[in-house]
Amino acid sequence: MNPNASLDFGYPWWLSAGHLAIAIPALAMSGVAHIRAWSKWPRILLGLLALWATTVFLLMQFGLRVNQAPALPTQSFLSTGTGRVLDIGAGTGRSTIMVLNARPNATVVATDEFGESFNHHFGHTDTPQQLLQKNLESAGVTNRAKIETADMRKLPYEAASFDAVVSAYAVDHLNRDGITAALSEVRRVLKPNSDFLLILVGNDRWAKFAFGPLLTHGGTRGRDWWAGRTKDACFELREDGTTPGTVWLLLRNP
Ligand SMILES: C[S@@+](CC[C@H](N)C(=O)[O-])C[C@H]1O[C@@H](n2cnc3c(N)ncnc32)[C@H](O)[C@@H]1O
Repeated sequence: MNPNASLDFGYPWWLSAGHLAIAIPALAMSGVAHIRAWSKWPRILLGLLALWATTVFLLMQFGLRVNQAPALPTQSFLSTGTGRVLDIGAGTGRSTIMVLNARPNATVVATDEFGESFNHHFGHTDTPQQLLQKNLESAGVTNRAKIETADMRKLPYEAASFDAVVSAYAVDHLNRDGITAALSEVRRVLKPNSDFLLILVGNDRWAKFAFGPLLTHGGTRGRDWWAGRTKDACFELREDGTTPGTVWLLLRNP
């Protein structure tokens, strides 16, 4: 049995399947409109609505797959395969498990504030760490992961204490000062010549097409904005790329 099958990252239903709640009634109404020979425009509008909602639903299920462990966007990250990795804004473990699955000889310290922002995404619970712990257990990686509570803007770790850092869809939840502080903290805790994989909500054409203003974490920040901020923080850009709704940068702490 695939251990990752029982993972539950706790993202809200509307993000992964909400468009189905529009697609089904729109398809049904399209059928009614066709049978009853409604006039052209209502039929066209219902058809377009059904097409849009179905396309986005399929994209969320087979493209973004928010409730499944993703693959690393680049194999260049931690290419030595070993070392101690820090995940900042680990949430319910999606990015931590991504790294642990792809790098079976690495360990991860999964950190999060486990505060308001966590509750906002995953619902309020008195024991948010347990949601993360449960997923680490389901993925069979608890022996290589440690959960700690930490604010990424002021990390409780010594300088140069990690071989790599990862962050997915988390730094883009901070304001401008918070981003500057977090990038500076990542540089401080990273060993020289090591990797920082920064994954962000892309807010690209796909995200706008799918969610309009509902998904605006980073405003209109795209790849160039993040490349600029990380350059200001003295990171070297090694690789970057996009997938629907996502922009990622592989950075090097020189
Ligand atoms: C959208 S979730 C991403 C979770 C996970 N990385 C993933 O890929 O699914 C954003 C996470 O960032 C965390 N977060 C926001 N601000 C933070 C901060 N200042 N320090 C640490 N974590 C923070 C939230 O608590 C939340 O769990």
